[in-house]
Parts: sequence; structure tokens; C-alpha cells
Amino acid sequence: MSDNGNDTPHLPGPSLWPIAFAIGVALLLLGLVISWLVALIGAIVAVVFGLLWGRDATGEVRAEAPPIQPETPADDPGAVEGAVQETLPGYTRSRFLEASLIGLAGGMGAVLTLPVLGFMVLPSFTNVEEDEADLGPLENFPEGQYVIATYLAVPAQGEVTRRTAFVRNNGPTDDGEPSFTILYSRCVHLGCPVQPNGPIDETAMTEIEGGVELRPVLAQSFGCPCHGGQYDAEGNRTAGPPVRSMDRYTFSIRNGRLVLGELYAVGNVSGAGANATISRYPWSVPGTHVDGVSAWLYPIVPSQVTG
Ligand code: FES
Repeated sequence: MSDNGNDTPHLPGPSLWPIAFAIGVALLLLGLVISWLVALIGAIVAVVFGLLWGRDATGEVRAEAPPIQPETPADDPGAVEGAVQETLPGYTRSRFLEASLIGLAGGMGAVLTLPVLGFMVLPSFTNVEEDEADLGPLENFPEGQYVIATYLAVPAQGEVTRRTAFVRNNGPTDDGEPSFTILYSRCVHLGCPVQPNGPIDETAMTEIEGGVELRPVLAQSFGCPCHGGQYDAEGNRTAGPPVRSMDRYTFSIRNGRLVLGELYAVGNVSGAGANATISRYPWSVPGTHVDGVSAWLYPIVPSQVTG
């Protein structure tokens, strides 16, 4: 029981701030899965409404806290009348509670927000600019057959950057342009190395300057050893958990040599070889849907290419 006989506890009035705070936390967690932008908005909403909630919760206590009178020199029998009196600011219990709650909310906000900001900003610093890869003369790529090409994506950083591409010379298009299907070997489920489903002719291995190795392979499909993902000869998913078709490379022909360009993601491939129609999307990490209803969760702008 309190000193004045009033047992009513100090409770804050009803408020919408906790609901808004909870919505902010929910948005933050949802954003961690679907979009950094949503996560950032959620973090900001959580911090703002968390602060407002904390302020409301301590408002009654702060309003009822009696002011603390600073000690005056009058209490001191030796004080001299008319002397300049120095007063110190009071630090009440309500101010302590308010500061604690604000500090707590700020700390929570930092814990929730900093990792999100880190994931948003860090890739700008960690993405290493990759060179184009010269895979050598076109004669090394027989028409209609896949060749496993391994190369150094960043030659200055050595073997740790070695990548594998499956390259098939489709022959000329109807317009007489050269056509290549070039698939990236990283599985679009979780990133394991996809293997060609067919024998590799190690005896016909060719080495090209710059660390490029070419191995002909008799393969009409590809498989992932990790979780059983399967792809057809065009890179379309045919079985298992992968969420899209195999990623592809752009390419160019320079001085009779095949040069790999940038990677892009593929939703679906209809047709085959030089006559294939490819649903092309900006490259994205494995596990990301790029088309269909699921793609709504991944804000990527689609475009269509043929060839
Ligand atoms: S990583 Fe390829 S199927 Fe899972």
C-alpha cells in the first residue's frame, strides 16, 4: 500500500504505439526475407513507435514526480547573505526512467537496424569488379556439343576465383549471327556446383593462355549433387528444388575468339539453341525466384531476349 492509501498502480493509458511498434518489428522480420527496403522501413517504424511508446509509458510517472529543491546556502549556517548561489540541475527518478527507456529503445533499434544496413551497404564494398573472360579461338567449340570451360574470374586473385561454364556452339542463327548457349555451373537452388550428366573427354582437354581449360563433354542435361536438382540441355529446371533455370552468360566474338560477358538470371527457356527464347532477368543470387507469383517477393525488373 502506498503512503497516501491509494493502491492504484501507475499504469499508462491505452495507446496505439505498441501495435505500431509490433507492426514495425513484423515488417523488419518480413523484410529480412523479401526486401532490404521493407526491412529498413520496418526498423524505422519500430524505433520511432518504440520511443513514443516508452515516452507514453513513463509520462504519468514523470508528471507526478515532485520537483527536487536544490540545496541552498541557507542550510549552511556559515552562508553569507547575498552571496551568489550556485544551483545544480536535479536528476529525478522520472528522468532516469525516461532516459533508460529511450536508451533501451535506441539500443534495440540499433541492434535491429545495423545488421540490415550492413547487409545493404556491404555488397557495394565487397563486390569485386570481374574481368571479361577470353575462352580462346572459336575452333575449340564444336557445333552442337557442350564444352566445360573453367577460367579465372579475377586473374589477379588466382585459383580461388576459378569458375566453370558449360559452353555450346549452336551454330549460326537465321540471321547468320553466331549463337552460343553458355550456362553458369552454380546451382540456382543453393549454389552447389552443377555437373554435366555425361562423360567428359579428359584426353581432349585444351589449355588456353590465361588459365582457361576446355574439356569436351557428351551431355544433354545437368545435375546438382547436393539436393538432386536437374536441368535440361537449355538449362531449364526439370526436377528438384531449384527455383529457376540455370544462369547464363552474355558473350561476344572478338578476333575469332569467344569472350564471356556478364551473368544474367533466366526464368524459362522455350525452344532450343539458336532459336531459343529466353526470359532474361538481372542476375540474382541462388534461391531467388525471378518469374511467376513468387517473383513478387523479389523486386527484379524483367526483360526478354532471343538467341
Ligand atoms: S544446391 Fe543444387 S539442388 Fe540444392
